[in-house]
Amino acid sequence: MVCESNNKSYLKSQNLKIIGGSTLRGEVKISGAKNSALVLLAGSLLTDEKIILDNVPLLTDIEKMCKILKNLGVKLTTNDHQLTIDSTHVSIKELPYELVHGLRASFFCIGPLLSRFGEASIPLPGGCNIGKRPINEHINGLKALGADILIEKEIVKARILKKGSRLNGSNIKLNCPSVGATETLIMAACLAKGRTVIENAAREPEIQDLCQMLNKMGAKIYDSGKEKIIIDGVQKLHGCSHKVIPDRIEAGTFLIAAAATSSSISVSPVIPSHLEALLNKLEESGSKVLIKGNSISIKGKKIKAVDVETAPFPGFPTDLQAPFTALMTVAKGRSKISETIFENRMNHVEHLNQMGSSILVKNNVAYIEGVNELRGETLVGSDLRSAAALIIAALISKTTSHIYGLEHLDRGYENFEVKLSNMGVEIIREITEKNNSDSNYKSSVIKEKISTGVNAA
Ligand code: UD1
Repeated sequence: MVCESNNKSYLKSQNLKIIGGSTLRGEVKISGAKNSALVLLAGSLLTDEKIILDNVPLLTDIEKMCKILKNLGVKLTTNDHQLTIDSTHVSIKELPYELVHGLRASFFCIGPLLSRFGEASIPLPGGCNIGKRPINEHINGLKALGADILIEKEIVKARILKKGSRLNGSNIKLNCPSVGATETLIMAACLAKGRTVIENAAREPEIQDLCQMLNKMGAKIYDSGKEKIIIDGVQKLHGCSHKVIPDRIEAGTFLIAAAATSSSISVSPVIPSHLEALLNKLEESGSKVLIKGNSISIKGKKIKAVDVETAPFPGFPTDLQAPFTALMTVAKGRSKISETIFENRMNHVEHLNQMGSSILVKNNVAYIEGVNELRGETLVGSDLRSAAALIIAALISKTTSHIYGLEHLDRGYENFEVKLSNMGVEIIREITEKNNSDSNYKSSVIKEKISTGVNAA
């Protein structure tokens, strides 16, 4: 089972041909945060008034979330990176299995639907390539708010038993600081009766972005970004305009790419405090980092090996673990990268080793012996961030690579290769005659440059 929808299968026959060995230069504009935009779209279901979202990244994940909202009857109007969302007429029906399985984040709709309409019916999102990804924290929290929840034939059926009444505020302590569960429960609690306190809440910037938008809509959420979030339920929420925060993971990926290729670039706009854990590790591993307002410049130098352990925010993000592992493959010395959030997020290692790195994985820890160089290969990224890691490895290597798995990459990076190309990388999106189900086949390339822009509506 994978996290992306099958209807993007044409992307499986595309690859990025990357001529390795070049350095990056110049500035790269960072798009809006995927993980913010996804939950903000779900949050827009909480009102029957219009929400205008700016800085929405054009990504296939966003396109899928829009499809889900449309399926519920929401009217969406797009204008470049601006989305107008009108949830006046929403019909409560079971979300189709294919749509939910196409995008795990679609499960976030359960909170707003339940609290605004008193019912929601959403198929279980299931696991994906990086782990089992249970939803017990979402379910337990919703139950604590008074929801009646039944899981029948893989469908989560949630409702408020007494017709016309609201959820009830409650004290909830999460067993783990789940980003998704924190978001689901905040959205559900906004329209609940009374006060909800969420303890051991996740503190990711995307949650703070959600709370900012909800407060603009009239919600009463205090202390987002802290471990204990307090929400005083209100009767109704109204429309607002909101700008999605910059994508810290996209920015981090480019900074790592620059460090890996001894390059000097700057990324903006960013909120530097969102990237602190990564910036510390980049400096520790030899790069020079300069923060100026909403821009970060990096000068890649000789790479030193450093150890990294992923952790919930403000710790080192699991979403940058694979790209950072690619950087450490050519560091001087030994490094240790520990993945603590997801149980199966080391899929990139085998591929990096095919490119000449020396990595051993044991119990979700990658032990890396730095090598002098990598060689180009034809490989398939198996999830969003592993595809990014392979592209960084391809930039490092002195020869040519073909990286497949763009159906994953395009979920989370807007025009990735265009941005790299603008920074001087020789990179082109190619389409091949077969798809990539056999990663070892020799591709027969149709010479055509393909645009990656997707219409989010
Ligand atoms: C979000 C991000 C994802 C990021 C992850 C961790 C979105 C759309 N995705 O995913 O990019 O990698 O946060 O920063 O925002 N868990 C449970 N029970 C639950 C929920 C989670 O045990 O009910 C566990 C998961 O299995 C995992 C850990 O908690 O091991 C973190 O998951 P969570 O924070 O929920 O990740 P997502 O919200 O799915």
